[in-house]
Amino acid sequence: MLTKTILPAIVAFHIGLSAADVCSDDEVSINSSADAEALSSCDTIEGTVTIGTQASGEISIDGPDSIDGDLICEDNGALTTLSSSSLTSIGGSFTMRNVTALTTLTMSKLSSVTTLDWQTLARLETVTFADEGLTEADTIRISDTFLSTLNAFSVTSPKKMEIDNNRRLTEWDSGLETLSDELVITANGFGLQVSFPDLVWIANMTISNVSDITVPSLEVVNGSMRFDSNFFTDFSAPNMTNTQDGDISFTGNSGLANVSFPLLTTVAGGFTIANNTKLEAIDGFPELKTIGGAVKLRGNFTTVELPSVNDVKGAFDISSTSNIDDVCSEFEDLSSSGGSGKIQGTFTCSSNNENANDVNSDGSSSGGDGDDESSSVVFGFSLPVAFSIAALGCLAQAVM
Ligand SMILES: *[C@@H]1O[C@H](CO)[C@@H](O)[C@H](O)[C@H]1NC(C)=O
Ligand SMILES: *[C@@H]1O[C@H](CO)[C@@H](O)[C@H](O)[C@H]1NC(C)=O
Ligand SMILES: *[C@@H]1O[C@H](CO)[C@@H](O)[C@H](O)[C@H]1NC(C)=O
Ligand SMILES: *[C@@H]1O[C@H](CO)[C@@H](O)[C@H](O)[C@H]1NC(C)=O
Ligand SMILES: *[C@@H]1O[C@H](CO)[C@@H](O)[C@H](O)[C@H]1NC(C)=O
Ligand SMILES: *[C@@H]1O[C@H](CO)[C@@H](O)[C@H](O)[C@H]1NC(C)=O
Ligand SMILES: *[C@@H]1O[C@H](CO)[C@@H](O)[C@H](O)[C@H]1NC(C)=O
Ligand SMILES: *[C@@H]1O[C@H](CO)[C@@H](O)[C@H](O)[C@H]1NC(C)=O
Ligand SMILES: *[C@@H]1O[C@H](CO)[C@@H](O)[C@H](O)[C@H]1NC(C)=O
Repeated sequence: MLTKTILPAIVAFHIGLSAADVCSDDEVSINSSADAEALSSCDTIEGTVTIGTQASGEISIDGPDSIDGDLICEDNGALTTLSSSSLTSIGGSFTMRNVTALTTLTMSKLSSVTTLDWQTLARLETVTFADEGLTEADTIRISDTFLSTLNAFSVTSPKKMEIDNNRRLTEWDSGLETLSDELVITANGFGLQVSFPDLVWIANMTISNVSDITVPSLEVVNGSMRFDSNFFTDFSAPNMTNTQDGDISFTGNSGLANVSFPLLTTVAGGFTIANNTKLEAIDGFPELKTIGGAVKLRGNFTTVELPSVNDVKGAFDISSTSNIDDVCSEFEDLSSSGGSGKIQGTFTCSSNNENANDVNSDGSSSGGDGDDESSSVVFGFSLPVAFSIAALGCLAQAVM
Protein backbone atom coordinates (compact mmCIF):
# COMPACT_ATOMS: atom_id res chain seq x y z
CA MET A 1 0.00 0.00 0.00
CA LEU A 2 1.09 3.53 -0.69
CA THR A 3 1.09 6.15 1.95
CA LYS A 4 0.71 9.63 0.60
CA THR A 5 1.25 12.84 2.42
CA ILE A 6 -0.80 15.40 0.60
CA LEU A 7 0.04 18.93 1.55
CA PRO A 8 -3.25 20.62 2.22
CA ALA A 9 -3.90 23.18 -0.47
CA ILE A 10 -4.18 25.94 2.10
CA VAL A 11 -0.67 25.14 3.47
CA ALA A 12 0.76 24.83 0.00
CA PHE A 13 -0.75 28.17 -0.86
CA HIS A 14 0.78 29.84 2.17
CA ILE A 15 4.27 28.48 1.59
CA GLY A 16 4.09 29.15 -2.09
CA LEU A 17 4.12 25.56 -3.37
CA SER A 18 1.68 23.76 -5.51
CA ALA A 19 0.11 20.83 -3.75
CA ALA A 20 2.78 18.12 -3.83
CA ASP A 21 2.23 14.47 -3.24
CA VAL A 22 5.04 12.85 -1.31
CA CYS A 23 4.76 9.08 -1.18
CA SER A 24 6.63 8.23 1.95
CA ASP A 25 6.84 4.44 2.02
CA ASP A 26 10.30 3.01 2.67
CA GLU A 27 9.76 0.38 0.03
CA VAL A 28 7.54 0.33 -3.01
CA SER A 29 7.40 -2.65 -5.32
CA ILE A 30 6.19 -2.91 -8.87
CA ASN A 31 5.17 -6.27 -10.26
CA SER A 32 2.83 -5.07 -12.98
CA SER A 33 1.83 -2.05 -15.06
CA ALA A 34 -1.01 -1.48 -12.61
CA ASP A 35 1.45 -1.26 -9.70
CA ALA A 36 3.41 1.34 -11.68
CA GLU A 37 0.30 3.34 -12.47
CA ALA A 38 -0.55 3.49 -8.80
CA LEU A 39 2.52 5.70 -8.39
CA SER A 40 1.33 8.25 -10.94
CA SER A 41 -0.01 10.67 -8.35
CA CYS A 42 3.26 10.73 -6.40
CA ASP A 43 5.57 13.64 -7.20
CA THR A 44 8.27 12.36 -4.93
CA ILE A 45 8.81 8.81 -3.76
CA GLU A 46 10.82 8.97 -0.57
CA GLY A 47 11.81 5.31 -0.37
CA THR A 48 13.21 2.63 -2.63
CA VAL A 49 11.37 1.30 -5.64
CA THR A 50 11.92 -2.33 -6.56
CA ILE A 51 10.74 -3.81 -9.82
CA GLY A 52 9.95 -7.43 -9.03
CA THR A 53 11.02 -10.56 -10.84
CA GLN A 54 7.52 -11.10 -12.21
CA ALA A 55 7.21 -7.68 -13.86
CA SER A 56 7.07 -8.26 -17.61
CA GLY A 57 6.81 -6.45 -20.91
CA GLU A 58 6.81 -2.70 -20.55
CA ILE A 59 6.79 -0.89 -17.22
CA SER A 60 6.29 2.89 -17.22
CA ILE A 61 6.84 4.89 -14.08
CA ASP A 62 5.08 8.10 -15.12
CA GLY A 63 4.25 10.81 -12.63
CA PRO A 64 7.05 10.86 -10.06
CA ASP A 65 9.67 13.48 -10.53
CA SER A 66 12.15 11.93 -8.12
CA ILE A 67 12.89 8.78 -6.20
CA ASP A 68 14.85 9.65 -3.09
CA GLY A 69 15.98 6.08 -2.47
CA ASP A 70 17.08 3.47 -5.00
CA LEU A 71 15.47 2.12 -8.14
CA ILE A 72 16.25 -1.58 -8.31
CA CYS A 73 15.51 -4.37 -10.75
CA GLU A 74 17.30 -7.70 -10.34
CA ASP A 75 17.00 -11.23 -11.72
CA ASN A 76 14.16 -10.39 -14.03
CA GLY A 77 13.95 -12.25 -17.34
CA ALA A 78 10.67 -10.80 -18.60
CA LEU A 79 10.90 -7.02 -18.50
CA THR A 80 11.58 -5.70 -21.99
CA THR A 81 11.10 -1.94 -21.70
CA LEU A 82 11.47 0.39 -18.74
CA SER A 83 10.42 3.97 -19.16
CA SER A 84 9.55 7.16 -17.38
CA SER A 85 8.60 10.49 -18.90
CA SER A 86 8.72 12.29 -15.55
CA LEU A 87 11.64 11.05 -13.45
CA THR A 88 14.49 13.58 -13.24
CA SER A 89 16.54 12.17 -10.39
CA ILE A 90 17.25 9.06 -8.35
CA GLY A 91 18.77 9.96 -5.00
CA GLY A 92 20.32 6.57 -4.38
CA SER A 93 21.38 3.83 -6.70
CA PHE A 94 19.84 2.92 -10.04
CA THR A 95 20.64 -0.78 -9.93
CA MET A 96 19.79 -3.24 -12.66
CA ARG A 97 21.43 -6.64 -12.58
CA ASN A 98 20.61 -9.76 -14.51
CA VAL A 99 17.68 -8.22 -16.32
CA THR A 100 18.12 -10.29 -19.39
CA ALA A 101 15.19 -9.41 -21.64
CA LEU A 102 15.44 -5.65 -21.26
CA THR A 103 16.14 -4.03 -24.63
CA THR A 104 15.08 -0.42 -24.13
CA LEU A 105 15.34 2.07 -21.35
CA THR A 106 13.72 5.45 -21.98
CA MET A 107 13.84 7.96 -19.16
CA SER A 108 13.59 11.15 -21.12
CA LYS A 109 14.02 13.52 -18.19
CA LEU A 110 16.52 11.62 -16.06
CA SER A 111 19.75 13.54 -15.57
CA SER A 112 20.88 12.72 -12.03
CA VAL A 113 21.61 9.58 -10.01
CA THR A 114 24.11 8.95 -7.23
CA THR A 115 25.11 5.50 -8.41
CA LEU A 116 24.31 3.72 -11.64
CA ASP A 117 25.07 0.02 -11.36
CA TRP A 118 24.09 -1.95 -14.45
CA GLN A 119 25.33 -5.50 -14.87
CA THR A 120 24.28 -8.37 -17.11
CA LEU A 121 21.75 -6.57 -19.22
CA ALA A 122 22.72 -8.62 -22.21
CA ARG A 123 20.02 -7.31 -24.55
CA LEU A 124 20.00 -3.68 -23.49
CA GLU A 125 20.53 -1.82 -26.73
CA THR A 126 18.88 1.59 -26.42
CA VAL A 127 19.17 4.02 -23.54
CA THR A 128 17.62 7.48 -23.55
CA PHE A 129 18.08 10.02 -20.78
CA ALA A 130 17.36 13.77 -20.61
CA ASP A 131 18.37 15.78 -23.69
CA GLU A 132 21.72 16.71 -22.20
CA GLY A 133 22.22 13.11 -21.04
CA LEU A 134 22.94 11.77 -17.59
CA THR A 135 25.01 14.66 -16.29
CA GLU A 136 25.27 13.86 -12.57
CA ALA A 137 26.54 10.61 -11.10
CA ASP A 138 29.23 9.70 -8.60
CA THR A 139 29.67 6.10 -9.65
CA ILE A 140 28.84 4.41 -12.93
CA ARG A 141 29.26 0.76 -13.74
CA ILE A 142 28.14 -0.52 -17.12
CA SER A 143 28.95 -4.18 -17.45
CA ASP A 144 27.85 -6.80 -19.95
CA THR A 145 25.26 -4.87 -21.92
CA PHE A 146 24.43 -4.80 -25.64
CA LEU A 147 25.11 -1.06 -25.85
CA SER A 148 27.11 0.21 -28.80
CA THR A 149 27.27 3.80 -27.61
CA LEU A 150 27.68 5.58 -24.29
CA ASN A 151 26.51 8.95 -25.61
CA ALA A 152 23.68 9.15 -23.07
CA PHE A 153 26.21 9.06 -20.21
CA SER A 154 27.50 12.60 -20.32
CA VAL A 155 28.71 12.95 -16.75
CA THR A 156 31.87 15.05 -16.62
CA SER A 157 33.24 14.62 -13.09
CA PRO A 158 32.35 11.30 -11.50
CA LYS A 159 34.29 9.51 -8.80
CA LYS A 160 34.33 6.05 -10.33
CA MET A 161 33.51 4.66 -13.71
CA GLU A 162 33.80 1.08 -14.90
CA ILE A 163 32.97 0.06 -18.43
CA ASP A 164 33.51 -3.65 -19.04
CA ASN A 165 32.34 -6.57 -21.13
CA ASN A 166 30.15 -4.50 -23.43
CA ARG A 167 30.92 -6.50 -26.55
CA ARG A 168 29.32 -4.12 -29.02
CA LEU A 169 31.03 -1.03 -27.70
CA THR A 170 33.64 -0.03 -30.25
CA GLU A 171 33.75 3.72 -29.78
CA TRP A 172 33.55 6.07 -26.81
CA ASP A 173 34.06 9.79 -27.20
CA SER A 174 34.00 10.64 -23.54
CA GLY A 175 33.11 14.00 -22.04
CA LEU A 176 35.02 13.27 -18.84
CA GLU A 177 36.86 16.28 -17.46
CA THR A 178 38.02 15.01 -14.08
CA LEU A 179 37.62 11.73 -12.23
CA SER A 180 38.42 11.52 -8.54
CA ASP A 181 38.82 7.83 -7.79
CA GLU A 182 39.10 5.26 -10.55
CA LEU A 183 38.33 4.55 -14.20
CA VAL A 184 38.38 0.97 -15.47
CA ILE A 185 37.86 0.01 -19.09
CA THR A 186 38.25 -3.64 -19.99
CA ALA A 187 36.97 -6.41 -22.27
CA ASN A 188 34.64 -4.32 -24.39
CA GLY A 189 34.12 -4.55 -28.14
CA PHE A 190 37.03 -5.58 -30.30
CA GLY A 191 38.64 -2.49 -31.75
CA LEU A 192 37.32 -0.10 -29.09
CA GLN A 193 38.55 3.44 -29.66
CA VAL A 194 38.29 5.80 -26.72
CA SER A 195 38.95 9.50 -26.68
CA PHE A 196 39.07 11.84 -23.71
CA PRO A 197 39.40 15.25 -25.34
CA ASP A 198 38.52 17.18 -22.16
CA LEU A 199 40.14 15.07 -19.46
CA VAL A 200 42.52 17.19 -17.37
CA TRP A 201 43.18 15.07 -14.30
CA ILE A 202 42.24 11.57 -13.24
CA ALA A 203 42.94 9.75 -9.99
CA ASN A 204 43.49 6.24 -11.33
CA MET A 205 43.02 4.64 -14.72
CA THR A 206 43.24 0.99 -15.73
CA ILE A 207 42.77 0.43 -19.43
CA SER A 208 42.74 -2.97 -21.13
CA ASN A 209 41.83 -4.35 -24.54
CA VAL A 210 41.40 -1.01 -26.30
CA SER A 211 42.67 -0.30 -29.80
CA ASP A 212 43.11 3.43 -29.53
CA ILE A 213 43.11 5.97 -26.73
CA THR A 214 43.74 9.70 -26.77
CA VAL A 215 44.25 12.01 -23.79
CA PRO A 216 45.37 15.28 -25.39
CA SER A 217 44.65 17.52 -22.37
CA LEU A 218 45.62 15.21 -19.53
CA GLU A 219 47.98 17.00 -17.16
CA VAL A 220 48.05 14.96 -13.96
CA VAL A 221 47.35 11.42 -12.83
CA ASN A 222 46.86 11.61 -9.07
CA GLY A 223 47.20 7.87 -8.49
CA SER A 224 48.22 5.30 -11.08
CA MET A 225 47.84 4.78 -14.82
CA ARG A 226 47.94 1.22 -16.16
CA PHE A 227 47.67 -0.17 -19.63
CA ASP A 228 47.50 -3.97 -19.92
CA SER A 229 46.81 -6.12 -22.98
CA ASN A 230 45.81 -3.30 -25.28
CA PHE A 231 46.04 -3.29 -29.07
CA PHE A 232 47.10 0.28 -29.77
CA THR A 233 50.32 0.92 -31.63
CA ASP A 234 50.97 4.38 -30.21
CA PHE A 235 50.34 6.02 -26.89
CA SER A 236 50.94 9.66 -26.24
CA ALA A 237 50.19 11.88 -23.23
CA PRO A 238 51.41 15.14 -24.74
CA ASN A 239 50.46 17.37 -21.82
CA MET A 240 51.02 15.14 -18.81
CA THR A 241 53.59 16.27 -16.27
CA ASN A 242 53.38 13.83 -13.38
CA THR A 243 51.72 11.20 -11.27
CA GLN A 244 51.18 12.50 -7.75
CA ASP A 245 51.03 9.22 -5.95
CA GLY A 246 51.21 6.13 -8.10
CA ASP A 247 52.60 4.20 -11.01
CA ILE A 248 52.79 4.31 -14.76
CA SER A 249 52.61 0.84 -16.22
CA PHE A 250 52.43 -0.58 -19.74
CA THR A 251 52.35 -4.38 -19.74
CA GLY A 252 51.60 -6.86 -22.52
CA ASN A 253 50.45 -4.35 -25.13
CA SER A 254 51.27 -6.49 -28.12
CA GLY A 255 51.21 -3.83 -30.85
CA LEU A 256 52.72 -0.95 -28.95
CA ALA A 257 55.56 0.59 -30.94
CA ASN A 258 55.77 4.14 -29.58
CA VAL A 259 55.18 5.56 -26.10
CA SER A 260 55.52 9.30 -25.76
CA PHE A 261 55.31 11.51 -22.65
CA PRO A 262 57.18 14.61 -23.76
CA LEU A 263 56.45 16.71 -20.63
CA LEU A 264 56.49 14.03 -17.94
CA THR A 265 58.91 14.95 -15.14
CA THR A 266 57.83 12.83 -12.16
CA VAL A 267 56.42 9.38 -11.54
CA ALA A 268 55.69 9.19 -7.82
CA GLY A 269 55.36 5.39 -7.78
CA GLY A 270 56.74 2.65 -9.98
CA PHE A 271 57.56 2.87 -13.67
CA THR A 272 56.94 -0.36 -15.59
CA ILE A 273 57.21 -0.97 -19.31
CA ALA A 274 57.21 -4.71 -19.85
CA ASN A 275 56.34 -7.32 -22.45
CA ASN A 276 55.40 -4.87 -25.15
CA THR A 277 57.22 -6.91 -27.74
CA LYS A 278 56.95 -4.47 -30.66
CA LEU A 279 58.48 -1.64 -28.70
CA GLU A 280 62.03 -1.22 -29.95
CA ALA A 281 62.90 2.01 -28.20
CA ILE A 282 61.97 3.45 -24.83
CA ASP A 283 62.81 7.00 -25.73
CA GLY A 284 59.65 9.04 -25.23
CA PHE A 285 60.49 10.43 -21.77
CA PRO A 286 62.88 13.30 -22.42
CA GLU A 287 62.05 15.23 -19.21
CA LEU A 288 61.59 12.38 -16.73
CA LYS A 289 63.69 13.23 -13.68
CA THR A 290 62.23 11.60 -10.60
CA ILE A 291 60.81 8.13 -10.02
CA GLY A 292 59.60 7.46 -6.49
CA GLY A 293 59.31 3.68 -6.86
CA ALA A 294 60.97 0.93 -8.82
CA VAL A 295 61.76 0.91 -12.54
CA LYS A 296 61.12 -2.23 -14.56
CA LEU A 297 61.89 -2.10 -18.26
CA ARG A 298 61.63 -5.52 -19.88
CA GLY A 299 61.03 -6.46 -23.48
CA ASN A 300 62.53 -6.73 -26.95
CA PHE A 301 63.85 -3.18 -27.15
CA THR A 302 67.32 -2.16 -28.18
CA THR A 303 67.26 1.46 -27.03
CA VAL A 304 66.53 3.05 -23.64
CA GLU A 305 66.93 6.79 -23.28
CA LEU A 306 66.04 8.60 -20.07
CA PRO A 307 68.28 11.64 -20.52
CA SER A 308 66.98 13.65 -17.55
CA VAL A 309 66.71 10.95 -14.92
CA ASN A 310 68.47 11.92 -11.71
CA ASP A 311 66.57 10.36 -8.83
CA VAL A 312 65.23 6.81 -8.78
CA LYS A 313 64.30 5.74 -5.27
CA GLY A 314 63.57 2.08 -5.97
CA ALA A 315 65.21 -0.79 -7.79
CA PHE A 316 66.07 -0.48 -11.46
CA ASP A 317 65.63 -3.59 -13.58
CA ILE A 318 66.32 -3.57 -17.31
CA SER A 319 66.18 -6.71 -19.39
CA SER A 320 65.83 -7.31 -23.10
CA THR A 321 65.73 -10.19 -25.53
CA SER A 322 68.15 -8.10 -27.59
CA ASN A 323 71.71 -7.07 -26.97
CA ILE A 324 71.53 -3.98 -24.76
CA ASP A 325 75.08 -4.02 -23.38
CA ASP A 326 75.46 -0.32 -24.20
CA VAL A 327 72.26 0.50 -22.34
CA CYS A 328 73.43 -1.53 -19.34
CA SER A 329 76.72 0.27 -19.05
CA GLU A 330 75.11 3.65 -19.45
CA PHE A 331 72.64 3.06 -16.62
CA GLU A 332 75.19 1.30 -14.47
CA ASP A 333 76.92 4.68 -14.34
CA LEU A 334 73.88 5.96 -12.43
CA SER A 335 73.76 3.12 -9.93
CA SER A 336 74.70 3.38 -6.29
CA SER A 337 77.23 0.59 -6.61
CA GLY A 338 80.00 2.18 -8.56
CA GLY A 339 78.01 4.91 -10.27
CA SER A 340 76.70 8.35 -9.43
CA GLY A 341 74.01 7.03 -7.06
CA LYS A 342 71.12 8.61 -8.95
CA ILE A 343 69.60 5.13 -8.85
CA GLN A 344 69.24 4.40 -5.14
CA GLY A 345 67.81 0.85 -5.30
CA THR A 346 69.35 -2.34 -6.62
CA PHE A 347 70.43 -2.05 -10.25
CA THR A 348 70.14 -5.04 -12.56
CA CYS A 349 70.48 -5.20 -16.32
CA SER A 350 70.53 -8.16 -18.67
CA SER A 351 71.07 -8.55 -22.41
CA ASN A 352 69.96 -11.35 -24.68
CA ASN A 353 67.62 -12.67 -22.00
CA GLU A 354 65.06 -14.97 -23.59
CA ASN A 355 62.84 -14.52 -20.53
CA ALA A 356 62.98 -10.75 -20.69
CA ASN A 357 59.26 -10.47 -21.38
CA ASP A 358 58.36 -12.51 -18.36
CA VAL A 359 57.44 -9.76 -15.94
CA ASN A 360 57.66 -12.02 -12.93
CA SER A 361 60.86 -13.73 -13.84
CA ASP A 362 64.00 -12.54 -12.20
CA GLY A 363 65.59 -12.78 -15.61
CA SER A 364 69.17 -13.90 -15.41
CA SER A 365 70.28 -11.71 -12.61
CA SER A 366 67.71 -9.27 -11.40
CA GLY A 367 66.60 -8.96 -7.82
CA GLY A 368 62.82 -8.88 -7.66
CA ASP A 369 62.66 -7.51 -4.14
CA GLY A 370 63.10 -3.95 -5.19
CA ASP A 371 59.47 -3.93 -6.20
CA ASP A 372 58.59 -3.18 -2.63
CA GLU A 373 59.48 0.37 -3.42
CA SER A 374 56.75 0.76 -5.97
CA SER A 375 53.45 1.90 -4.66
CA SER A 376 50.57 -0.44 -4.93
CA VAL A 377 47.01 0.45 -5.58
CA VAL A 378 44.00 -1.42 -4.37
CA PHE A 379 41.10 -1.34 -6.74
CA GLY A 380 37.59 -1.62 -5.46
CA PHE A 381 35.72 -3.20 -8.32
CA SER A 382 35.46 -6.92 -8.69
CA LEU A 383 35.72 -7.70 -12.36
CA PRO A 384 34.07 -10.65 -13.99
CA VAL A 385 37.13 -11.05 -16.12
CA ALA A 386 40.09 -13.06 -15.00
CA PHE A 387 42.79 -10.51 -14.60
CA SER A 388 46.32 -11.62 -14.78
CA ILE A 389 47.31 -9.76 -11.69
CA ALA A 390 50.46 -11.76 -11.58
CA ALA A 391 51.58 -10.03 -14.73
CA LEU A 392 51.87 -6.85 -12.75
CA GLY A 393 54.87 -7.65 -10.65
CA CYS A 394 54.59 -4.39 -8.80
CA LEU A 395 51.04 -4.93 -7.71
CA ALA A 396 51.59 -7.49 -5.02
CA GLN A 397 48.70 -6.27 -2.93
CA ALA A 398 46.24 -5.51 -5.69
CA VAL A 399 42.74 -6.81 -5.43
CA MET A 400 40.63 -6.26 -8.51
C1 LIG B 1 5.47 -7.89 -5.70
O1 LIG B 1 5.94 -9.21 -5.46
C2 LIG B 1 6.69 -9.32 -4.26
C3 LIG B 1 7.28 -10.71 -4.20
O2 LIG B 1 6.41 -11.65 -4.76
C4 LIG B 1 5.78 -9.03 -3.08
O3 LIG B 1 6.51 -9.10 -1.87
C5 LIG B 1 5.24 -7.62 -3.24
O4 LIG B 1 4.32 -7.32 -2.19
C6 LIG B 1 4.55 -7.46 -4.57
N1 LIG B 1 4.20 -6.06 -4.74
C7 LIG B 1 2.99 -5.66 -5.09
C8 LIG B 1 2.78 -4.19 -5.22
O5 LIG B 1 2.09 -6.46 -5.29
C1 LIG C 1 19.23 -14.33 -13.40
O1 LIG C 1 17.83 -14.21 -13.38
C2 LIG C 1 17.16 -15.41 -13.70
C3 LIG C 1 15.68 -15.09 -13.75
O2 LIG C 1 15.45 -14.26 -14.87
C4 LIG C 1 17.46 -16.46 -12.65
O3 LIG C 1 16.83 -17.67 -12.98
C5 LIG C 1 18.96 -16.66 -12.59
O4 LIG C 1 19.27 -17.55 -11.53
C6 LIG C 1 19.64 -15.34 -12.35
N1 LIG C 1 21.07 -15.53 -12.45
C7 LIG C 1 21.88 -15.22 -11.46
C8 LIG C 1 23.33 -15.46 -11.72
O5 LIG C 1 21.49 -14.77 -10.40
C1 LIG D 1 44.41 15.59 -8.87
O1 LIG D 1 45.35 16.55 -9.26
C2 LIG D 1 44.77 17.78 -9.67
C3 LIG D 1 45.89 18.67 -10.21
O2 LIG D 1 46.88 18.84 -9.26
C4 LIG D 1 44.04 18.41 -8.51
O3 LIG D 1 43.44 19.62 -8.92
C5 LIG D 1 42.97 17.45 -8.03
O4 LIG D 1 42.32 17.95 -6.89
C6 LIG D 1 43.58 16.09 -7.69
N1 LIG D 1 42.51 15.13 -7.42
C7 LIG D 1 42.55 14.25 -6.44
C8 LIG D 1 41.39 13.34 -6.30
O5 LIG D 1 43.51 14.15 -5.68
C1 LIG E 1 43.32 5.45 -6.58
O1 LIG E 1 42.49 4.34 -6.32
C2 LIG E 1 42.65 3.81 -5.03
C3 LIG E 1 41.78 2.62 -4.94
O2 LIG E 1 40.50 2.90 -5.39
C4 LIG E 1 42.28 4.82 -3.99
O3 LIG E 1 42.52 4.30 -2.70
C5 LIG E 1 43.12 6.03 -4.18
O4 LIG E 1 42.71 7.00 -3.26
C6 LIG E 1 42.96 6.52 -5.59
N1 LIG E 1 43.85 7.63 -5.77
C7 LIG E 1 43.41 8.86 -5.74
C8 LIG E 1 44.43 9.93 -5.93
O5 LIG E 1 42.23 9.12 -5.57
C1 LIG F 1 48.20 21.72 -21.71
O1 LIG F 1 48.35 22.22 -20.37
C2 LIG F 1 48.38 23.63 -20.27
C3 LIG F 1 48.56 23.98 -18.80
O2 LIG F 1 49.65 23.33 -18.27
C4 LIG F 1 47.11 24.22 -20.83
O3 LIG F 1 47.19 25.64 -20.80
C5 LIG F 1 46.91 23.76 -22.26
O4 LIG F 1 45.67 24.24 -22.73
C6 LIG F 1 46.92 22.24 -22.31
N1 LIG F 1 46.81 21.76 -23.68
C7 LIG F 1 45.77 21.02 -24.07
C8 LIG F 1 45.81 20.52 -25.48
O5 LIG F 1 44.86 20.74 -23.33
C1 LIG G 1 42.01 -8.19 -22.04
O1 LIG G 1 42.73 -7.67 -20.92
C2 LIG G 1 42.87 -8.61 -19.87
C3 LIG G 1 43.46 -7.89 -18.68
O2 LIG G 1 44.59 -7.19 -18.97
C4 LIG G 1 43.71 -9.77 -20.38
O3 LIG G 1 43.87 -10.73 -19.35
C5 LIG G 1 43.02 -10.40 -21.56
O4 LIG G 1 43.85 -11.40 -22.11
C6 LIG G 1 42.76 -9.35 -22.64
N1 LIG G 1 41.99 -9.94 -23.73
C7 LIG G 1 42.37 -9.79 -24.97
C8 LIG G 1 41.47 -10.43 -26.00
O5 LIG G 1 43.35 -9.17 -25.29
C1 LIG H 1 56.25 8.69 -31.32
O1 LIG H 1 55.11 9.50 -31.04
C2 LIG H 1 55.43 10.88 -30.86
C3 LIG H 1 54.17 11.61 -30.42
O2 LIG H 1 53.05 11.20 -31.15
C4 LIG H 1 56.01 11.45 -32.16
O3 LIG H 1 56.36 12.81 -31.98
C5 LIG H 1 57.24 10.64 -32.52
O4 LIG H 1 57.74 11.08 -33.76
C6 LIG H 1 56.92 9.15 -32.61
N1 LIG H 1 58.16 8.40 -32.79
C7 LIG H 1 58.30 7.52 -33.76
C8 LIG H 1 59.61 6.82 -33.81
O5 LIG H 1 57.40 7.27 -34.56
C1 LIG I 1 60.51 -10.73 -28.84
O1 LIG I 1 61.50 -11.60 -28.35
C2 LIG I 1 61.08 -12.94 -28.23
C3 LIG I 1 62.21 -13.73 -27.58
O2 LIG I 1 63.40 -13.56 -28.30
C4 LIG I 1 60.75 -13.48 -29.61
O3 LIG I 1 60.26 -14.80 -29.48
C5 LIG I 1 59.67 -12.60 -30.24
O4 LIG I 1 59.44 -13.02 -31.56
C6 LIG I 1 60.10 -11.15 -30.24
N1 LIG I 1 58.97 -10.37 -30.67
C7 LIG I 1 59.10 -9.40 -31.58
C8 LIG I 1 57.82 -8.70 -31.95
O5 LIG I 1 60.16 -9.11 -32.06
C1 LIG J 1 53.18 -10.99 -22.93
O1 LIG J 1 51.99 -10.36 -23.40
C2 LIG J 1 51.22 -11.21 -24.22
C3 LIG J 1 50.06 -10.37 -24.73
O2 LIG J 1 50.57 -9.33 -25.48
C4 LIG J 1 50.75 -12.42 -23.44
O3 LIG J 1 50.02 -13.28 -24.28
C5 LIG J 1 51.97 -13.14 -22.91
O4 LIG J 1 51.54 -14.20 -22.08
C6 LIG J 1 52.84 -12.22 -22.10
N1 LIG J 1 54.06 -12.89 -21.76
C7 LIG J 1 54.51 -12.94 -20.52
C8 LIG J 1 55.77 -13.70 -20.33
O5 LIG J 1 53.92 -12.43 -19.57
